[in-house]
Amino acid sequence: MLEYDVAGQRGVRNIKHKIPNINGINKEIQLAYLAPLKLFREGIMKKFSHIIMSILLVFTANICWAFQDSRQLVNLPEMMQEHMMANMRDHLAAINEILGFIANDELDRAANVAETRLGMSSLEAHGAGHMANFMPEGMQKAGTSMHRAASRFALKVEEGETLKALDALAEVTSACVACHMAYRIR
Ligand code: HEC
Repeated sequence: MLEYDVAGQRGVRNIKHKIPNINGINKEIQLAYLAPLKLFREGIMKKFSHIIMSILLVFTANICWAFQDSRQLVNLPEMMQEHMMANMRDHLAAINEILGFIANDELDRAANVAETRLGMSSLEAHGAGHMANFMPEGMQKAGTSMHRAASRFALKVEEGETLKALDALAEVTSACVACHMAYRIR
């Protein structure tokens, strides 16, 4: 009976009876209105977290960079810097060609590239004598040991002693690595 009197009666029981329904509607309303609001808020939080993460990353990256880049800065005149970097790119290209020639069993060509572009014969072309004056001793030594190892490699590979030659080639690349770990020019 009371259930049909809901509209007319304001009895507690009737209202109570209606409550589940009203609540049900409310829940839907809540979902309909609050869900986008919730998403919006979550979106903002997400945005914030991105910004916070980015700021943190930049800071930690800077801190890591400051800690990690302990290489010594070597001041070279601008012209010399460019010359040296061009040399460097050619060093890498030379190593690449050498590996290709070894793989193709073209050992004479590997030897030739090593001697003329990395070895003792390359010093003049690289202007090494002139540049050495601007370099700290450790840097000069790394350079010299690279050129020597390249010439040793050229001899060994010409003799067909590929394994020993590769050993010398690893000494070449070790000198590249050693110098790169310790020095920078900009
Ligand atoms: C005597 C020191 C030294 C030796 C040996 C050396 N490098 Fe470098 N190299 C440098 C320095 C210094 C830089 C610049 C690094 C910087 O300022 O961040 C450089 C830069 C380079 C670059 C970047 C060039 C560019 O244009 O960005 C390459 C590639 C490179 N070296 C390859 C090599 C290879 C390959 C070898 C060995 C065969 C080698 N280097 C041996 C000191 C050396």
